Amino acid sequence: MSAMSLDELREQIGQCEQCWLCKSRTRLVFGSGNENASLMFVGEAPGRAEDAQGLPFVGPAGKLLDTLLGGIGLRRADVYITNVVKCRPPGNRDPNPEEIDACNLFLKSQISIIKPKIVCALGRIAASVLLGRNVQMTKMHGQKFPVPGFFVVPVYHPAAALRNPATVSVIEEDLSLLRRYLDDDEEPPPGEFTPEPEQMGLF
Ligand code: URA
Repeated sequence: MSAMSLDELREQIGQCEQCWLCKSRTRLVFGSGNENASLMFVGEAPGRAEDAQGLPFVGPAGKLLDTLLGGIGLRRADVYITNVVKCRPPGNRDPNPEEIDACNLFLKSQISIIKPKIVCALGRIAASVLLGRNVQMTKMHGQKFPVPGFFVVPVYHPAAALRNPATVSVIEEDLSLLRRYLDDDEEPPPGEFTPEPEQMGLF
């Protein structure tokens, strides 16, 4: 799997019909950014703007994410950005466990191709999928959790900060911690990211 490139993976996925989100999507949103990034962001699912353009985080939450990235001296071209599910759920509802399971192999493959040091989980759903357990963001945001192959750092979703501007400074603090984790010498534990689909029935 890891001998494959992101372009080859994207080609393999094609016009995926593994779950019924294929019926309502405009475009599948695979992900974008630097294939060699040491930092990867994983959001929840494409929204309206992402569905229209086929690119992740290009709507209002994405604009805020760009600003927040700038605050730790990074640009989009430095990182890789994707979502737990690649197709927009109708009305922006949360993706359900079947949809998350159907897309999980794609996320897992993206991570094993990119081999980031840190995967920043944007919001509860991404954090729960990446850690294989139900995450409480109030208790876990900004901390570094080792899993085989990388560290997961849960951070509040930028959309939460659009709803509640007080959350912006919490995300800023968490991202400056993340920047330190990125720059320190601690290596993630060895191994590959191998979540089991059964872990995903969490929500
Ligand atoms: N919210 C997400 O979780 N992902 C996007 O790509 C856009 C908004």
